[in-house]
Amino acid sequence: MRKIIVLLGPPGAGKGTQAEILRDQLKLTHVSSGDLFRENVGKQTELGKLAKSYMDRGELVPDDVTIAMVKDRISRPDCDNGVLLDGFPRTAAQADALCAMLEDLGDKVSVVPYISAPAEVLIERLSGRWTCRAAGHIYHIKNKPPRVPGICDEDGSELYQRDDDKAETVANRIRVYLDKTAPLIDYYKQRGLLIELDGTLPPETVSQQIMTKVE
Ligand code: AP5
Repeated sequence: MRKIIVLLGPPGAGKGTQAEILRDQLKLTHVSSGDLFRENVGKQTELGKLAKSYMDRGELVPDDVTIAMVKDRISRPDCDNGVLLDGFPRTAAQADALCAMLEDLGDKVSVVPYISAPAEVLIERLSGRWTCRAAGHIYHIKNKPPRVPGICDEDGSELYQRDDDKAETVANRIRVYLDKTAPLIDYYKQRGLLIELDGTLPPETVSQQIMTKVE
């Protein structure tokens, strides 16, 4: 059975940062629903145009298109060794759909690391985040500055600030998280899959704690 890890937490808690560390350590494929949408936005596909209209407001993209996109992605051969899901599921309907799609493939969710941080920390992190254009490597103006300002250390590509990291959009993303996604904490707790992590600790400490539990 494949390892399926679901990273859960509010915007800016460090899901993407942990995924970057853990995918190499655990040899899993990182599947980020946000990155998949941003790829589609960049290529101006129909899905991208639809997703952008929700993402720019900090709202969730409808469940049906999100579920279909993730189902297609995790069925590809590069996911055969296991998957690190980041940003999916985000609603109870998505969590049920994930459970059903994994069952069809003979798999199930292995563990759900839930990374939390107070709202003021999330806001400070998102306002200072810079992301690499080529591969999505994540930086922070204070916590993790690149060696050369504006340039990714890993691949030399340009760093940019996400459109949805504007203050008013961040505020709505946090509201939407509390309303639609936070109920998944209990959903996975009841299933004995949740591990709780303090996302204000340094990234390496959080990843070590996840590794200990996962192994
Ligand atoms: P998505 O791209 O998934 O964004 P998100 O969940 O809001 O999460 P973020 O990527 O903003 O934060 P993160 O937790 O990954 O933090 P990061 O590691 O970057 O979704 C974007 C949009 O797409 C949604 O609003 C929605 O519209 C749509 N969407 C996506 N999935 C969907 C779904 N399933 N259903 C419907 N719609 C969907 O870290 C943030 C910053 O903090 C960085 O600068 C980093 O360097 C820093 N940092 C991280 N960890 C630490 C640490 N431990 N200490 C200090 N600094 C840290």
